Order: sequence, then C-alpha cells, then structure tokens
Amino acid sequence: MSHFDRIKPPVDASRRTTLKALGLGATALAFPGLMRSTPVWGIPTDIITKAVPRTGEKLPAIGLGTHMTFDVKPGKPREHLREVMRIFYEGGGRVIDTSPLYGLAEVSIGDYATALDINSELFIADKTWVTGEWLGDDSHAQQQFRRSMERLWRDQIDLMQCHSLVNARTVIQAMQQWKADGQIRYLGASHHLPSYYHLVAPWVEKGTLDFVQVRYSLATRAAEERILPAAMDTGTAVMVNMPFEKARLFKVVKGRPLPDFASEIGCETWAQFFLKWIISHPAVTCAIPATTKPKHQADNIGALKGPLPDKEMRTRMLKHMETIPEFDKVANMPAYPGKSFDGVVKRGSRTPAKAK
Ligand SMILES: NC(=O)c1ccc[n+]([C@@H]2O[C@H](COP(=O)([O-])OP(=O)(O)OC[C@H]3O[C@@H](n4cnc5c(N)ncnc54)[C@H](OP(=O)(O)O)[C@@H]3O)[C@@H](O)[C@H]2O)c1
Repeated sequence: MSHFDRIKPPVDASRRTTLKALGLGATALAFPGLMRSTPVWGIPTDIITKAVPRTGEKLPAIGLGTHMTFDVKPGKPREHLREVMRIFYEGGGRVIDTSPLYGLAEVSIGDYATALDINSELFIADKTWVTGEWLGDDSHAQQQFRRSMERLWRDQIDLMQCHSLVNARTVIQAMQQWKADGQIRYLGASHHLPSYYHLVAPWVEKGTLDFVQVRYSLATRAAEERILPAAMDTGTAVMVNMPFEKARLFKVVKGRPLPDFASEIGCETWAQFFLKWIISHPAVTCAIPATTKPKHQADNIGALKGPLPDKEMRTRMLKHMETIPEFDKVANMPAYPGKSFDGVVKRGSRTPAKAK
C-alpha cells in the first residue's frame, strides 16, 4: 500500500520511444532494471507531507539539496555522502534537488541511489541551465537533459526546473514537450536571489509552472510579497532553497540555547527550528537543506516529525530571532562560514594557474 500517492503517467507505455529519442534505447532495454521509473512506496506514515497542488501527490516536506555538498572530486572520500542519503531515505526523505550546474552532484546521486537500490523511489528535482546557438535554439537543452538522465541513471525525471530563469522561454517550452512525452512529470523554474523575484513572479502568476523554487528563510522573507501568495492562487507547488542561508543562520545562533517554546513544536535543535518555520507556511511544499554530514542529516530529517507551528507561533519564532544580534546581517555574511568544498565547481572557479 502506498503512502506516497504518486500519480505517474504510464511511463512504460512510452518507454521505448522515450529511450530511443534519448539515444539510450539499446542500453536501457538490455538492462531494464537499471533505468526503471516506478511509483514510490512506503514512506513512514508519521511524517509531515505536503500535497503538490496540481495532482494531490504527497511529498515529504523535507528534501535534500546537493549544491557543493555532493560535488566530490574523483578519488576523494565520498562514503559519508552515501550515508547522508541513506539516513535521509530511512527518515522518510524522498525529494532530492540537483542541477547539471552542481559539478558531479548528479553523478553522485545516480551512484548512491543505485547502490542503495532506491533510485526509482526518489522524487528527483533537476534543472536545465543552457543558452543555445541562437535565440530559440533548444538543442543545448535537449543535450543537457539527455546527459542528466544518464548521470542520474533515470528514464524519467520527476521535476525539471529552469535554473535561475536562464533562457526561460525556450527552456520552458522544451520542458512542456518533455512533460507531454512523459519524460518529466512536472516543470518549474528556480531562483535564489530576491532581486530577481519580480522576474520569477509573472511565471507563477500566469500559472505556467507546476513548481517554483525560491529562497525563503527566517532571514530572507521576500518571497512572501508576491511569490508565495501567487503560488497559492495558481496552485503552484513551492520548493524552498537555502533554508539555512548557506549555514549563516547557524553562525548567528552559535552557543545560544533554543527558546523554551521550541519544545511546543517538537524542535530539539536550531536546524529543526529553522526548517519547521519554513515548511509551516501554507504555500510551501518542501524545503531542501543540504549537508555533507550524516549527523546533520539525521537532525534535518527530524523536522519531518511532530507538530508544525501555527501562524502565531511563526510570528513568535521570528520575533525571537530578531532579538539575536547579527540576525539582521545574515544576508551580507560570507556563505558557508568555516567550510570549504573541493569539487568540479570549486576547481572551475579557481584561476587557471592554480587549477589542478
Ligand atoms: N536554484 C537555485 O538558484 C538554488 C540556489 C541555491 C541553492 N539551491 C538548492 O537548495 C539547496 C540548499 O541550499 P544551500 O545548499 O545553498 O544551503 P543551505 O541548505 O541553506 O545550507 C547548507 C549548509 O548548512 C549546513 N548544515 C546543514 N544541516 C546542518 C545542521 N543540521 N547543523 C549545522 N549545519 C548544517 C551544511 O554544512 P554541513 O555540511 O557541515 O552540514 C551546509 O554548509 C542547494 O543544495 C540546492 O540544491 C538552489
């Protein structure tokens, strides 16, 4: 019996055509078990889920982000990330967000998900970030989509998002076709900079997207102005990126105890406090925190349990944060305080002389 209520289009019917179109037919048909796309069963019944407005499909309200964290250079230790994914899955997590822009993150996901034998049970949210040879040319989008499928070892991606609205008209049109063909189930667009929300909002207001992904946290609440209300009006699901402000929120509360009232909403840690505030907004479908640490993953996925704050409690949580020095400066602090990453993205951002 499914607790996930997935409403997937009949992928198998178009499977042969889809694989052929992707140039994957021979390989996929020779190894059918490796590229399946079957419904998700068996998430725990006692976790917080939210319905995707367009279909009613229920998703666990905490997902997993992979920017920087899952981009590991070949030859470097990576077992900790497989453990992160295992703990995530066993805690009820299913939604994993990635992008071709995140270096080798897609490869890592495809690898761990296949090794853990959970690939078909995940809700994979990927992205497209391409321009083209000329305006309106979607050949790069098609190429990137094919490569993402190969890296993720999938013949269907649950959600594709136009990353940072890059080349949005052409890319979203291509996604509409992928959706019609059954290669993706939902389409969306993402951004993380509030200064671009005026460009994201019209897409949500027109109801073009199934999902919109934006940054929304106790410290960055600009999405409340147009995007979250429009999402509720148009039945657009909302995925929330940067829920910890790239770890800056932890820097602000370092050494501080949680307020006593946190126990009323079942929060044992600051991570759960930050996450429950986000997912308790009625427009929000899920938040996608990222981590490299199994211990932190256990902490984050713990936010799927217990009560959610109501409107009054959300106000109280915010008021408490506003009493903490430096909270109002979070957006201007350097990202990932005290952390460093060593993957393809980091390598690409070095000056040529230093790149090794
Ligand atoms: N579309 C877009 O424009 C866009 C932009 C940004 C992000 N995103 C997506 O959103 C995801 C999340 O955003 P993000 O990765 O930028 O930042 P984030 O999730 O706000 O923060 C991640 C940082 O928080 C730390 N952390 C996680 N759990 C913790 C815990 N329980 N206790 C203490 N520290 C903890 C992690 O460090 P440790 O490794 O030490 O745990 C990591 O450095 C991304 O991975 C990506 O998938 C999308």
